[in-house]
Amino acid sequence: MSDSLEPVLAQLAERLAQEAARRYRIGADQARERIERTWRSHQALRALAGKTPSPRALARTRLYRQAASQAKKDIYYRLRRYRPQSDEFSTGLERLRRAVADADCQAACEALARAHASTAERWPDLDGFLERTQPVWGDCATLLDLGCGLMPLLFPFDRVGGRLRRYVACDRDARCIEAVNARSQVPSGVLEGRVWDIDDGWQALEAQTGIQHYDAAFLLKLVPVVARQQPRLLAALADAPADWLVVTGSRQALARRQDISRRERAVVGSFAKRYGLVVESQFETPSEFGLVMRGT
Ligand SMILES: C[S@@+](CC[C@H](N)C(=O)[O-])C[C@H]1O[C@@H](n2cnc3c(N)ncnc32)[C@H](O)[C@@H]1O
Repeated sequence: MSDSLEPVLAQLAERLAQEAARRYRIGADQARERIERTWRSHQALRALAGKTPSPRALARTRLYRQAASQAKKDIYYRLRRYRPQSDEFSTGLERLRRAVADADCQAACEALARAHASTAERWPDLDGFLERTQPVWGDCATLLDLGCGLMPLLFPFDRVGGRLRRYVACDRDARCIEAVNARSQVPSGVLEGRVWDIDDGWQALEAQTGIQHYDAAFLLKLVPVVARQQPRLLAALADAPADWLVVTGSRQALARRQDISRRERAVVGSFAKRYGLVVESQFETPSEFGLVMRGT
């Protein structure tokens, strides 16, 4: 079959893409490309489209309805994924590993971080985020980044001079940690990525790093995720071994065009209340809100 979709199918792809763009955080062009790419290899649907005179008639068929529903699900679940699919991630990681010059390394870090849902969301407000959190990280000698994702790839090590001695970044996602450990334009020995699950406990982390207590810990967009997926681990998070905790949440849903600030604020607020953590200050960027709490 030819590579361009049958006209009736192309019209329906356009309509579906517009609908997806209204509902989800994706542009219509990108949604259409994804839908068309999938439908190009759907032989049965294309054969039916070739025999069906109008988009309206095709839209009523069961085969089309199934394909449309699958296309919407694909878009939704792809948007909900934190990290890009394997191939895309591997290519980015390889580029980062090969980067020698600072500028190449920075470009590779940015590209990877912009492909991870959490850092991609933060990217347009990164300067604002760093400025608002600098009162905490600016004076740290030791910083712990829990459930770090790819944030360590965007951390401005050049702005902390020699003060920061250790930035320990941990996540249960081993691929993220591979990327963190591939970042080379950081003074030697400062950044270390560790594969670690909250469930492993603080002693297991200490055994890996030799650090008992940190000046501050980042829990960026972590508490709402843990509250949803593994609420029993919240008590451990509240016990993070640091003087200060920077706890943030998202203001926008990952996939849907939906403001979730109220819900996420409630989760973070009840985390502080339940575990007796004192909130010292709050901040906000267009995509994220944060509470700075005293650690235990
Ligand atoms: C929403 S992402 C936030 C990533 C990063 N902190 C940021 O804001 O850019 C949540 C991260 O927490 C990690 N995570 C979730 N549950 C975890 C657990 N039990 N132990 C360790 N990491 C966890 C996920 O792998 C993911 O990278």
